[in-house]
Amino acid sequence: PESITVGELALRLKATAAEVIKKLMANGVFASINDEVDFDTASVVAMEFHAKVEKEVEVTIEEQIIDDSEDTDADLETRAPVVVVMGHVDHGKTSLLDAIRHTNVTESEAGGITQHIGAYQVNLDGRMVTFLDTPGHEAFTTMRARGAMATDIAVLVVAADDGVMPQTVEAIHHAKAAKVNIIVAINKIDKPGANPEHVMEELTKYELVPEEWGGDVPCIRVSAKQKTGIKDLLEMILLVADMKELKANPNRAAKGVVIEARLDKGRGPIATMLVQNGTLHIGDIIVAGTSVGRVRAMASASGKEIEAAAPSVPVEITGLDSVPTGGDTFNAVSDERLARQLVEQRRTAQKEELFNSRTKVTLDNLFEQM
Ligand code: GTP
Ligand code: MG
Repeated sequence: PESITVGELALRLKATAAEVIKKLMANGVFASINDEVDFDTASVVAMEFHAKVEKEVEVTIEEQIIDDSEDTDADLETRAPVVVVMGHVDHGKTSLLDAIRHTNVTESEAGGITQHIGAYQVNLDGRMVTFLDTPGHEAFTTMRARGAMATDIAVLVVAADDGVMPQTVEAIHHAKAAKVNIIVAINKIDKPGANPEHVMEELTKYELVPEEWGGDVPCIRVSAKQKTGIKDLLEMILLVADMKELKANPNRAAKGVVIEARLDKGRGPIATMLVQNGTLHIGDIIVAGTSVGRVRAMASASGKEIEAAAPSVPVEITGLDSVPTGGDTFNAVSDERLARQLVEQRRTAQKEELFNSRTKVTLDNLFEQM
């Protein structure tokens, strides 16, 4: 607190309010018992009483239980890149992801991939890449808004026969705002009307200058349908990932972001989460937005039951007491009681926020809505 009432100050100084008021007056401050004085004024008076007023530091539950300490270089280990595929409707995002999965030469869990998880891992000659299959840009936008950017690289899919469209532009803005590396996949080059050069020309209007024209944006020509250019795209993803030297500390409490979540009739809330730092274990107590609980079961993107998930690994978990929101951050914590308190606090704050936003209806906008 930056200020204190005269009465409270007197209490702390073990003096009477009258004595404090007198001292204040001597210093040119005219205040009554219920008035507030600022920290500096309080200090001056306290010094006269030969005491020192220490600034009170309020430690929130959040700070008490969420370990946000920085990792030292020695703690850090290389982690897989996290790639999001974005682009205009029908430009071939899903087809491209399918093609990537099938070109995935060392795929050991073929056929087991569940589409609904919204995230999966591909093994490229022993190197893992995590892909986020975010339908629309919604999850991406909320993640960015909450400063929990989960992705390192954005693959921008542009159909060679259609060119840059409104949602392409939107995706460019999102990727730029999030400061992720953009790799352009010019798709559908098999189509008769395909014109990759025209696409590249259009991209320059948005300050995306292709590498082959002296810029820094890799543009890879692909056909998701004929599965051409896929290897080049994957190699480019690995190259960009190498340059970024992506690292995390697997030996700390897990933290990350909720990709998506839903309620299952039998199993309760199910959340797909991406671990961004630390390792998530079965039995961990986690706080995810306004949800809390112990990780009961954990499955990999391919549906396999797993015990632990390292950085960049997407998992599906059960055990939360409610359904979190996509884009929420999550943290593994050690104190269940405090975790529940924190969630209560967040729920109250959320309700207040909702209430305040509702009451901000003016006569004008009330009539506009009718
Ligand atoms: P939304 O999820 O609806 O935004 O679409 P999307 O971007 O995921 O596109 P999707 O992969 O569903 O492909 C849209 C259409 O384009 C489908 O009919 C695909 O078969 C077709 N398509 C995708 N890639 C190619 C390609 O390389 N060549 C050709 N000829 N068609 C393609
Ligand atoms: Mg799709």
